[in-house]
Amino acid sequence: MAELVIVDRDGKEHRVEGRVGVSVMETLRELDYGVAAICGGMCSCATCHVWVDEAWVAKLPPRQGDEQELLRELGSFRPANSRLSCQIVFSEALAGLKVAIAPDE
Ligand code: FES
Repeated sequence: MAELVIVDRDGKEHRVEGRVGVSVMETLRELDYGVAAICGGMCSCATCHVWVDEAWVAKLPPRQGDEQELLRELGSFRPANSRLSCQIVFSEALAGLKVAIAPDE
């Protein structure tokens, strides 16, 4: 089992099984406290915004251009660790990945 550690918008931590081989967003959008993911992973809505725990930032592939542009428009953008969860493919290597769900905007 590859766990994802999720901090919800109230600051509560949850441990769930992540879906390997698909984006982190796919797991998050199935949760009551998860993300809306309105565009379904097309990198055009930013409603899947998360803050990646700093211990994990360097283990993820860097942001691509579209993701970077979309994130910069958000008031809750944090240059160090903001990511669109639809752009992070979950794998066994990322077991234990910790993300906090960013505020709704
Ligand atoms: S689901 Fe829309 S940008 Fe990620």
